[in-house]
Amino acid sequence: MKTIIKNGNIVTAVDNYFADILIEDGKVAIIGAKLHMDADQFIDAADKLVIPGGIDPHTHMELPFGGASSSDDFKTGTIAAAHGGTTTIIDFAVQYHGESLVEAVDNWHKKAEGKTAIDYGFHLITTDLPDERVPEMRQLISEGVMSFKLFMAYPGVFLVDDATIYRAMKNAGEAGGLICMHAENGVVINEIIKHALAEGKTAPKYHALTRPTKAEAEGVHRAIAIAEMAEAPVYIVHLSCSDALDEVREARDLGLPTYAETCPQYLFLDYSLYEREGFEGAKWVMTPPLREKWNQEKLWQGLKGNDLQVISTDHCPFCFKEQKELGRDDFTKIPNGGPGVEHRMSLIYNGGVAEGRIDVNRFVELTSTAAAKLFGLFPRKGTIAVGSDADIVVFDPNEEMVLSSATHHMNVDYSAYEGMKIRGAAKTVLSRGRIVIEKGEYVGRPGDGEFLKRGTFSM
Ligand code: URP
Ligand code: ZN
Ligand code: ZN
Repeated sequence: MKTIIKNGNIVTAVDNYFADILIEDGKVAIIGAKLHMDADQFIDAADKLVIPGGIDPHTHMELPFGGASSSDDFKTGTIAAAHGGTTTIIDFAVQYHGESLVEAVDNWHKKAEGKTAIDYGFHLITTDLPDERVPEMRQLISEGVMSFKLFMAYPGVFLVDDATIYRAMKNAGEAGGLICMHAENGVVINEIIKHALAEGKTAPKYHALTRPTKAEAEGVHRAIAIAEMAEAPVYIVHLSCSDALDEVREARDLGLPTYAETCPQYLFLDYSLYEREGFEGAKWVMTPPLREKWNQEKLWQGLKGNDLQVISTDHCPFCFKEQKELGRDDFTKIPNGGPGVEHRMSLIYNGGVAEGRIDVNRFVELTSTAAAKLFGLFPRKGTIAVGSDADIVVFDPNEEMVLSSATHHMNVDYSAYEGMKIRGAAKTVLSRGRIVIEKGEYVGRPGDGEFLKRGTFSM
């Protein structure tokens, strides 16, 4: 099968030029100024940007969490991702206490197999890593699961102690793996929560008010310090605030291999949403919580200055009516997480490029290239180059849309951005050369997405 994308403005993390692309057998075969050759199909990209498919390295499809299961499965969630121009996700498998690491990943393979619309990989949430299990970690790294998420939050559920963090970092670091850290001091947070509940503070806003930015900053500081002792890199997930960013910047200024992502919700939404009437604030109960608005410009500075390298979504949707409802009388029972996988690319194009905060190359780097490099996928993914997978988005920088649960494709009954008007939309989306989105319709086949065996950490 041969496809030619014609007349487009190709944008990668470093290039910006007009050329045609010949795709053959799912890969980019030729890039040339004017390709005059036969093909099975032609895509006209005049007046559009032609960008690498987005990589979202932080999603939770069908995650059992907080007494519910996130409402997108690997089919609905990856179709929604494709609609927005994301062609790869890295989702989080979970190892429960006492479970084998390898078995845990196998369980997530079963959830995803035959369902995904785009390519996918797994990180492993690791909750139990005694010395006897370390060989399994090394085995997984050699089999393409090179990243592991550890939690300093959620005592009694996901939290691991500092010894485990050090052990995981040391071994992952030696074997070419990468530790992703949920950095929040969950032990102190639980004490603060206890006091709040004792005072009858049960509304959704207390989720945010019991998780101070200092608890996140302390977690980030500790994660970086332990990584330094383990002589290993560390990647901070869903960084939400200026206090935590200061810790990352300080470490990077010292030359430590510290990396971090933030998410659109921390760039565009803020604490005031929790003050809405009644129970509505539950829609934004996620961890870390939304912060005071002034943090947003600090995060954009971090993105511009490369103290933050990646924008992921932490997509973990729970329906407002049936699932968030579990915590109507007690904010600690509201399932933590929100929807986002569909609109990351458009939100960042709009808020970043259209509003003049970053250039279009940095947009590509933050939404695709950097994640490919950090998570063992580059140059197969994350760029448009001869030999790379033809994961390509024809992106209209001028199309306007209004975000709404009435039109989105995620399996959740509300939008975190309801009514927000933005500019920039994926028009045609190719996954390994096959068109999966055309004229706003999903035209692929669930199950065509492949599991990605990722390489080792090489930054
Ligand atoms: O609230 C969130 N972020 N839910 C998903 C789990 C996590 O900590 O990433
Ligand atoms: Zn987390
Ligand atoms: Zn998450």
